[in-house]
Amino acid sequence: MLLTFAMIIAAYLIGSISSAILICRFLRLPDPRTTGSKNPGATNVLRISNKLTAATVLFLDVLKGTIPVWGAYFLKIEPLYLGFIGVAACLGHMYPIFFGFKGGKAVATALGTLLPIGLTLGALLIATWVLVVKFSKYSSLAAIVTVSVAPLYVYLLKPIYVYPTLMLSALIIFRHHANITRLINGTESKISHKI
Ligand code: G3P
Repeated sequence: MLLTFAMIIAAYLIGSISSAILICRFLRLPDPRTTGSKNPGATNVLRISNKLTAATVLFLDVLKGTIPVWGAYFLKIEPLYLGFIGVAACLGHMYPIFFGFKGGKAVATALGTLLPIGLTLGALLIATWVLVVKFSKYSSLAAIVTVSVAPLYVYLLKPIYVYPTLMLSALIIFRHHANITRLINGTESKISHKI
């Protein structure tokens, strides 16, 4: 139990490392927390910078979810707790202790936590996101749709993880409340929008 608790704390701390803020700082780009959508995530970094920088942020944010879950799996932590370790990594991204508890929406980190469940799930989630972006051009809408169907995918493929996935989906949709308002008002930025 102590090991599980330590892994939950470790996952939260790893999740708290904001790659978007650090990479923008390193490259002397504007702070993603004060520019564009003000979200420290890959989509906003794409608005500020270029595809390579955004892809690097995306990759590192995915890793923040995968590393603690894989680590806990190899330490033989029970499946249900693996799910909560994933939730802790996402909470770290959303409310980072190193950045005044003001973080991002944890879409990439959530994908990272779910990837160890299997390639089929990963492919389904990525395909859903890509499809919605292709037709709507909204990254936020793609994220909202993807996390809304994620619990169903998980239920069909690995039902034991359905409760932590539901928790993740609810948290991510909650973090998109401003995007939802902008989508309804027609003021949301398309993914290709540059600052
Ligand atoms: O993954 C974050 C995305 O869903 C929305 O990002 O910058 O448009 O708020 P943003």
